[in-house]
Amino acid sequence: MKPFEKRESWKSRTGFIFAALGSAVGLGSIWRFPYVVGQNGGAAFILLYLIFLALIGFPILIAEILVGRTAQLSPFGAFKKIGKNKFWGLSGKLVIFTGFIISSFYSVIAGWMLGYLIEAIFGHLSFSGSAQALEHFDKLSSSAFWSIGFHFLFMALSILILFFGVRKGIEQKSKIMMPLLIVVVIILVIKGVTLPSASKGLKFLLSPRWDLVTPAGILIALGQAFFTLSLGQGTMVTYGSYLSKKEDIPKSCFPVVLLNTLISILVGIAIFTIVFSQDLQPAVGPSLIFETLPLVFTKMKLGYVLSIFFFLLVTLAALTSEISALEPFISYLIDEKGWKRKKASIFTGCLAFLIGVPSALSFGLLKRFTLFGLNFFDFVSFLSVNILVPLGGFLIVVLVSYIWGIKKAFEHLKVSKEAFFHHRPWVAMYFKVCLKYISPILIILILLNILGFF
Ligand code: PHE
Repeated sequence: MKPFEKRESWKSRTGFIFAALGSAVGLGSIWRFPYVVGQNGGAAFILLYLIFLALIGFPILIAEILVGRTAQLSPFGAFKKIGKNKFWGLSGKLVIFTGFIISSFYSVIAGWMLGYLIEAIFGHLSFSGSAQALEHFDKLSSSAFWSIGFHFLFMALSILILFFGVRKGIEQKSKIMMPLLIVVVIILVIKGVTLPSASKGLKFLLSPRWDLVTPAGILIALGQAFFTLSLGQGTMVTYGSYLSKKEDIPKSCFPVVLLNTLISILVGIAIFTIVFSQDLQPAVGPSLIFETLPLVFTKMKLGYVLSIFFFLLVTLAALTSEISALEPFISYLIDEKGWKRKKASIFTGCLAFLIGVPSALSFGLLKRFTLFGLNFFDFVSFLSVNILVPLGGFLIVVLVSYIWGIKKAFEHLKVSKEAFFHHRPWVAMYFKVCLKYISPILIILILLNILGFF
């Protein structure tokens, strides 16, 4: 199981923070978060989401990073080393598989974003009404050439970054892309809140409406807290495996959770102040980004520039997430098969591209092809995001809490006298209760709900 090449590592703590933040901030936080907040009670939903972040998101993030950092191996090797038997090796393979499948269809949607960025640059996104915006989106997303083309291009970009490895690839590029992303978010927020009817958008997003909080909405908040931190699919275990043994894990993870939440809320503010400024209703799902927003930009002063900024923002966010979904499999090939990084990256990229093709065709050629009543894209995304991701989270929680043992695991967090875990028994207690009891119970609830038990 010995790595054949010297294992790569992050150059600095900031590098790790930007890379992990890049993974967290993605389509989930930028595209999905704002409208689930709007639909499920505004600030009331945000409060629930924050509670779940504290109870399961943050503790599981720490658990994943800790497993990777201690083993210094891909999720397969790490699970096997800590779990000490075949079952845990297999579980490690399962989480790698989950990340890999996510990368295949994530690239399809991200490809649409890239495609729309190009459309915006060429000035093709100016519409007379919503029917025309919808028609344009349908035409593009059902075109095999367009969707496979941009899926390919996006995958190629991701592989190009991964090709250069942990420091020169993931870390260095995240350190450029994430600050750029933050600048774009700030520009859009400033534009949004200075629009005449900004208060309507702010109210939609931020006023607490407890009457809109439903049991289903609570589970959405729970799932969101999980997906947004890229948990349950090997990503954070792998990113943790590149972290130095001296690093104080809670101190490096806290900014990731905080900034990810802040960015999601700011993007929500930008989107809704902009949408409401034109007296449009925020739609849900793909139509918010691909129909409503282009239409709003058409009507706005400086809309051309804003639309370019907006699609640049989403594309950057998706890119830093995509690479993090591909990396676990690449690190597996390097650690276990002794492959060189370049070969492993190209192989992973080609395979993920091919597996993503039926997803790219699910809105056109393969529209009528269904599995369990879902088109291919919906099927793989449902299977991975709703079932495999919580399952992966459950496995990691059991591994750390019951197989490794909280006490032993936490010893590895006390890296120095100044470490966050030293002399703070209440912190250890809090993480222990969250990981041992609260997380497994909540994850089982998510799974039972998805399987239709409630
Ligand atoms: N955290 C990402 C988001 O919110 C989703 C993601 C999950 C990305 C898994 C990579 C891997 O969009």
